[in-house]
Amino acid sequence: MLIAQITDTHITRERKPAYNRVDTAAYLERAVAHVNALDPRPDIVVMTGDLVDEGSAGEYAILRDILAPLSMPVYLMPGNHDARGALRAGFPDHPYLAQGGEWIQFAIEEYPLRLLALDTVTPGRGHGELCEGRLGWLADRLVEQPERPTLVMLHHPPFPTGIAHMDKIGLLQGAEALGGILSRHRQVQRVICGHLHRPIQAVWHGTPVSVAPSPAHQVALDLRPGGPSAFMMEPPAIHLHSWTPAGLVTHQSYIGAFDGPYLFKDGSPVG
Ligand SMILES: [Fe+2]
Ligand SMILES: [Fe+2]
Repeated sequence: MLIAQITDTHITRERKPAYNRVDTAAYLERAVAHVNALDPRPDIVVMTGDLVDEGSAGEYAILRDILAPLSMPVYLMPGNHDARGALRAGFPDHPYLAQGGEWIQFAIEEYPLRLLALDTVTPGRGHGELCEGRLGWLADRLVEQPERPTLVMLHHPPFPTGIAHMDKIGLLQGAEALGGILSRHRQVQRVICGHLHRPIQAVWHGTPVSVAPSPAHQVALDLRPGGPSAFMMEPPAIHLHSWTPAGLVTHQSYIGAFDGPYLFKDGSPVG
């Protein structure tokens, strides 16, 4: 099973440049073309939040249009820039969005790797929270199928990254309780996240956690305590998660035209 993870696409109203500078709609169009052109083709796409920038109906309509050419199913979940109601209204043909009641969290059961999406959104705020209700839902799902290899998805990474302005809007409530649940359920192969707009890996409470970069702008890598809140136009990318019975392997797939490929035997172009 091959899963393409696209995160933090930040589609804006009327496709206006985000932060006066980033054409996020055009970047997502390139990401969609990139995923469709992959060989082998991913079985599904998961999008781990900050789908749009301000949670408006118009932004979700643009998102819907841009995603339409995807040739495989796509699963959407919210980040701090999303609005649950507008997301559901914009994608009425995505029934899993209604599974979680108050929250947008859901279980996808029909693939070899079970997918559990957890909603970390605190409406109107940048940081994430996991309350007892949301964590209880996760614990119940994990108890249901303790032997089933499972991927847990959430927008806010559960650990501090060292990028100060992002850690201030990290998962500020419920992270330790989440860690306790994960440590009791070894079927969780990985936790995948967004929010940070950077590729980041950690082992946390014994479970590997990965954060995917954005197909548009990246958060500047700045580990100084007082570093400014800033972004960089580092290469856009997605994550490709390959699940086999041997385990879950993740590749970072860069979007764009690059020199090569060339054969190692003589440097001639691969024909
Ligand atoms: Fe984001
Ligand atoms: Fe975010």
